[in-house]
Amino acid sequence: MTNSLTTQTGTPVESNEHSLTAGVDGVTALHDRYLVEKLAQFNRERIPERIVHAKGGGAFGTFEVTEDVSRYTRAAVFQPGTATDTLQRFSSVAGEQGSPDTWRDVRGFSVKFYTAEGNYDIVGNNTPVFFIRDGIKFPDFIHSQKRLPGSGLRDADMQWDFWTLSPESAHQVTYLMGDRGIPRSWRQMPGFGSHTYQWINAAGEQFWVKYHFTSNQGNAEIEASEAEIIAGADADHYRRDLYEAIAAGNFPSWDLHVQVMPYEDAKTYRFNPFDLTKIWPHSDYPLIKVGTHTLNRNPENFFAEIEQAAFSPANTVPGISISPDKMLMARIFSYPDAQRYRVGTNYTEIPVNAPKNATHNYSQDGAARHGFKPAGAPVYAPNSFGGPVADAAAAGEGTWESDGALVRAAATLHAEDDDFGQPGTLYREVLDDAARARLLETLTGQGTALTVPEIAERFLQYWTNVDAELGARLRANLSRSGETANEAAEPVGVPE
Ligand code: HEM
Repeated sequence: MTNSLTTQTGTPVESNEHSLTAGVDGVTALHDRYLVEKLAQFNRERIPERIVHAKGGGAFGTFEVTEDVSRYTRAAVFQPGTATDTLQRFSSVAGEQGSPDTWRDVRGFSVKFYTAEGNYDIVGNNTPVFFIRDGIKFPDFIHSQKRLPGSGLRDADMQWDFWTLSPESAHQVTYLMGDRGIPRSWRQMPGFGSHTYQWINAAGEQFWVKYHFTSNQGNAEIEASEAEIIAGADADHYRRDLYEAIAAGNFPSWDLHVQVMPYEDAKTYRFNPFDLTKIWPHSDYPLIKVGTHTLNRNPENFFAEIEQAAFSPANTVPGISISPDKMLMARIFSYPDAQRYRVGTNYTEIPVNAPKNATHNYSQDGAARHGFKPAGAPVYAPNSFGGPVADAAAAGEGTWESDGALVRAAATLHAEDDDFGQPGTLYREVLDDAARARLLETLTGQGTALTVPEIAERFLQYWTNVDAELGARLRANLSRSGETANEAAEPVGVPE
């Protein structure tokens, strides 16, 4: 009896092979409730895939603080000696579920810390910057990278049209078209919070911080030609690599560092410190180690624990806050909204998303509600019956000064805020000769795929603005190759 098949409501099932029919060859009876339950449940197995970062994988782990950064933050998760359970998910931005891992793309790097003071999420990428600096452009950016509405195909003209009309993208696109665009594995790539966040210490002092995860496996990449072969042979190359490494006890780890900017420096720093298309050079703000993050446990169920996982930059904890970065503020709205739709209103009750500490609030009901308060607990506030009350001191939220009229404009106060300066430095001073040569080759392939002359010319100008010599070489390569449409060349997200 213990191994008897049952319906979802627990009653034994008569047959798992034969539908109930009127005679052997007769019509199927609608009251075969097990058949109906089985087919109906199957039809509902899929939930919407993430609107971006749909293809990914992940694992559980531990974050251990090895240094003392308590002078910068009071957050329990970053106090000396603290060990915190974590969940990490890696992903590709543009590809749908099932798309090959080794297509050129930016990779997501999300970490959920189940802290004593609530869940803290760092939802970043394997690059320190992003394509745009205002969330109002995000849907347009993603539309340009996904598929044409008619043919359902990716399209190089569309991708480069958006990028070349959005010059703030140049820094991130230089990373993407370079080696960083195809890591050898998720284990062998860095992670960045990318945005500027705020830390607040026990005395209430505020600092601006950027997160850097450096891989203890080292960084390694795949050449484009090899990535194309892997894409065909094993679309799940990264997911498999991570799963098999952890299953074999070969636990990957990353050291977490922060760059810390004193609060007042932000006003006069040479770059806008809240502009997501900019880095802070390490010579200005060196890396300070915090601790080590180790992944040591595979999910038991991919759907329950990875597909339903809900990461959000809105999940902050006392001693950590956001900054006046327009992208970050848009993301604060976007993620919980997406997850209420994608996973369901009560997505925070699902074990992988639930905090380990107790929650106390007046939220109730909604689809698939599981938890509830005792019948006598007050359901409104303020109340006279000892219900939970807000506690500003416990919340430890950050703040910043803001005044002036409501405007729709970018900050212009910082001396070196041009769009092409930092990508030029990346090209000339960070990449070596071999990496520059590979970048040129990739861009030549990209340029060859463009069919609209106006976009092709803007493409050449864009790269000339990054570096005049790079632009000239690209122009020479493209005129040699005829500069005509060549469908064999690589749109982003398609192997080359
Ligand atoms: C305003 C700009 C942005 C918007 C509106 C946006 C929106 C979204 C949405 C709606 C999701 C799906 C969430 C879900 O269904 O669970 C998502 C996923 C993700 N986004 Fe963004 N995003 C933005 C910018 C960024 C930036 C700048 C980064 C990195 C620095 C980033 C990294 C990620 C990652 C890693 C995921 C996957 C999270 C996971 O593993 O589940 N996004 N984004």
